[in-house]
Amino acid sequence: MASPGTRDKYRVYIYVHDFFLALLFTLTSLPSSSLLSATQPGAMSSSTLHLLLCCCMLVSSFASAASWRTLARMPAGNIHEHSVVALTPTQLVSVGGVLQQGGPISSVYLYDLVKDSWKKLASLPVTINHANVAVVDGKLYVLGGMTGSGWVGNPTTWLYDQAADKWTTLASMPASEARGSAVMGVYNKTVWLASGKTKSGGESVATVSAFDTASGRWLDSIPAKAKNLPEGRDHGGGGIVGTKYYQIAGSLGPLTNRTDTVFVLDLENLAAGWSRAKGRMPTPRRGFATALIGSKFYTFGGEGNPLASSNGVYSEVEVYDTTTDTWASLGRMPVAKHGSYAVAVNGSIYIPGGGTASGTPATDIFDVFTP
Ligand SMILES: *[C@@H]1O[C@H](CO)[C@@H](O)[C@H](O)[C@H]1NC(C)=O
Ligand SMILES: *[C@@H]1O[C@H](CO)[C@@H](O)[C@H](O)[C@H]1NC(C)=O
Ligand SMILES: *[C@@H]1O[C@H](CO)[C@@H](O)[C@H](O)[C@H]1NC(C)=O
Repeated sequence: MASPGTRDKYRVYIYVHDFFLALLFTLTSLPSSSLLSATQPGAMSSSTLHLLLCCCMLVSSFASAASWRTLARMPAGNIHEHSVVALTPTQLVSVGGVLQQGGPISSVYLYDLVKDSWKKLASLPVTINHANVAVVDGKLYVLGGMTGSGWVGNPTTWLYDQAADKWTTLASMPASEARGSAVMGVYNKTVWLASGKTKSGGESVATVSAFDTASGRWLDSIPAKAKNLPEGRDHGGGGIVGTKYYQIAGSLGPLTNRTDTVFVLDLENLAAGWSRAKGRMPTPRRGFATALIGSKFYTFGGEGNPLASSNGVYSEVEVYDTTTDTWASLGRMPVAKHGSYAVAVNGSIYIPGGGTASGTPATDIFDVFTP
C-alpha cells in the first residue's frame, strides 16, 4: 500500500527525474563552441535551435508532471473494485467496492467536484463490487455486479432516485448473464454491457447484454454475431464513441493471461457483428481504468503485471485514438493502481481509490489527471 508520504516522495521523484533527464540532454547536446563563439548574423545555428528545443523539454517536463493532482480521500477508506460514474457535470457517484480492511460493502457515496467533498447516499440492499453502472438521462442505474464474500455474479438491476435518496429494483438481466466488470456504454437510452466475470475465480465471458431504459426491458433479440465477442474477456475497458462500441483488452481465464485486443461493434449494424481493430494496446492489461474524452480512450494502470517489483500492478497511461486506430503512451500514474474507475468530466479524468497490489492492498488516494 502506498501511504500519502510515499506518494509525495514518488511525485517529487518524477519531477526531479524528468528535470535532470532534460537537463542532461540539454548539456550533452551543447557543443562548447556555441557557448563561446557568436553565431553567424542572420542565421540561427543548428545548435541554437537544439538548445531552444531542449529548453522546451525542460519546461514541458514540469508542465506534464503538473497535470496530476489529488482530491479528497475516499470516505470509506482504502478501497478497490468500486464503480464510479458521473451523475451530473459536477457530481460523481462511487458504488460499492471492497475495503482493504472490511471486505465488500454496499455503501454508495457522492463526490461534489465543486466542494471537493464526499457524502454518503442510501446504500444498496446487498454488498456489491465490480458493479456495472451507467447514467441515462441523469438517472443512475446499477445493472448487476458481484455480491457477497464469494463475489458471485448478481443479475439485479437497480435505479437510484436522487430526490428521494432511494433505490428501486427493475427487471433483472437473464440469470445466465449475471456478471461483474462488464464494459459499459450508453446508446439511444439503451445501456450496453460487454464481457465480464461470473464470480471471483470464475469464467471470463464473451456475452453482450443490453437494457432499454425506455421500456425497462432487457433486449432478447440481439443478432448472434453481436451477442458474443470473438473471445471471452473480463476486467477490460472501453465504451461507445458515435455508433461504435469498443471493448479494449482485459484478461481471458487466469488474470495473468492479459490481452491487447480492441473489438468493435457498430450499433447501427448489429448483424455485421464484432470485428478486431488494428490498434493493439501497447501494454496488455486487465483491471485498468478507462475514461473517454471526445474520440479518445485514456487507460490507466491495471493488473497482471508479471514484474516481481510491480506487486502485480501497472502504472502505464496509454491513450487509444478511435479516429486513427492508434495508441500512444502518456507516461505513468503517480501511484500504480488496478480495480479503480476513471471518469472524464469537464476535460479532467477522475480516478478515485484502487488496488495497489494484486489482492486486498488498496488506497484511499483520489487522483485527477488532466491530459
Ligand atoms: C438511435 O437514434 C438515432 C437518432 O434518433 C436513430 O436515427 C437511430 O435509428 C437509433 N438507432 C437505434 C439502433 O435505435
Ligand atoms: C489466454 O488467452 C489466449 C488469447 O489471447 C487464449 O487463446 C488462451 O486460451 C488463454 N489461456 C487460458 C488459459 O485461458
Ligand atoms: C470546468 O473547466 C473550466 C475550465 O478549465 C473551469 O473554469 C471550471 O471551473 C470547471 N468546472 C468544474 C465544475 O470543475
